[in-house]
Amino acid sequence: MKKVITYGSFDLFHEGHFNLLKRAKALGDMLIVGVTTEQYDVSRGKMNVVDSLMRRIDNVRQSGLADEIIIEDHEGQKIEDLQKYNVDIIVFGSDWIGKFDYLRAYCEVVYLDRTKDVSSTILRHERLGIVKLGIVGTGRIAERFIQEIVFVSGAEAISAYNPRNKSAKDFGERHKLTYFHGEYEKFLESIDAVYIATPHNTHYDYTHKALKMGKHVLCERPMVLTEHEARDLYNTADKNKLVLMEAVKTAYTPGFINLLSIARGGRIGTIYDVEAAFTKLVPYSSRAREYDATVGGSFTELASNSLLPIIKLLGYNYETLEFESFQAKNGTDMYAKAMFKYKNAIATAKTGLGVKSEGQLLVSGTKGYILVRSPWWILKSFEVCYENPEENESFSAPFPGFGLRYEIADFVRNIADPTHQNFKFTHEDSIFMSSVIEKFLKATRQGV
Ligand code: CTP
Repeated sequence: MKKVITYGSFDLFHEGHFNLLKRAKALGDMLIVGVTTEQYDVSRGKMNVVDSLMRRIDNVRQSGLADEIIIEDHEGQKIEDLQKYNVDIIVFGSDWIGKFDYLRAYCEVVYLDRTKDVSSTILRHERLGIVKLGIVGTGRIAERFIQEIVFVSGAEAISAYNPRNKSAKDFGERHKLTYFHGEYEKFLESIDAVYIATPHNTHYDYTHKALKMGKHVLCERPMVLTEHEARDLYNTADKNKLVLMEAVKTAYTPGFINLLSIARGGRIGTIYDVEAAFTKLVPYSSRAREYDATVGGSFTELASNSLLPIIKLLGYNYETLEFESFQAKNGTDMYAKAMFKYKNAIATAKTGLGVKSEGQLLVSGTKGYILVRSPWWILKSFEVCYENPEENESFSAPFPGFGLRYEIADFVRNIADPTHQNFKFTHEDSIFMSSVIEKFLKATRQGV
């Protein structure tokens, strides 16, 4: 008996899927179909799959072509399956040509022509529409954003804005976008949503104007530096039924969500201490954005990351909050610590532009601790450690790229369905973060 196997997400099952399965089955006597889990799809960069795993399996079953259906949930499983099911032929669509040639060591590899003009991506776009996105600011983070958004179904970056003509033009041309300079309103007219990646002190105005013009906003961290401004922006968004999200990217990654569930689930017992650090050496210059005399400094620049696990694990109801910092020449902080005392726990957020430290996250509990090694905010794996090191466990949730695609995917999903609760990083989380940054600036600087 000749066994054939093929794999796919089979989201929004369509004619192309049916044709592929039919031709694959015709190559042998028995067809095995592997359907990917959502988690595996996300880890290989496929975001926003619409149908549940059960529905996708059901659709493959209803095609009547699969003799056996299995679930594909990790990298490397194909080789295991080839052995386990004693497969003769593995089939892929022509979009994968060359990619799986290494499997020829185990069986015959066949690439079949794709059916033209149909794909799950096209169907998702038809169903959900495409969010036309504009990018405000054209620096390093905007470059990353452009590279990541291509992995998210349902959104397309179409234009860029920078008050400086040359930067807007260079960025726009490099990425084949329409570009605008000095005409923010005109830029807003052409899009549905904006991603704001400019210096912090400009966030409020750009966000406020965009919301007023009916545009959804994803704003880089820190969104604003005062609680009042944060509340004002979320109120404006709510009033206009618009999505406003602060781009604290770590909050949206599967690894961080996994860490929260393990920590909250009691595996390390009761949590008594959360310590998070983020340092990035930037040589002092009064002209550097990071040392801007009013809104610069290590805390405004980096604390959004260090505060995230504290907020998510210990909440907002601290008893005391104290700061220590060392100043750069112009009075901005080049190294800072925020120390929280809760009823039954303590926490420290450490940031540095002029002092380097280990960028790790350490959560200590009565039964053990969770350690995420540097750079912890790009959270792809972590360890849970116990008194007996033989019991230590490692968890991994790898992702390709810079990790921005998760927040973009959530942003797009929230726009498509405004009833969606954004529990990963809530408005209240964001407002609380602004309030801590505001307190820091009041405590450490005069005249801000
Ligand atoms: N396939 C095909 N013809 C199409 C679409 C898909 O032959 N028009 C094949 C793919 O090459 C793959 C299998 O169907 O071997 C399952 O593909 P899947 O990734 O689920 O489908 P796509 O429509 O390509 O999905 P997406 O747009 O999400 O990438």
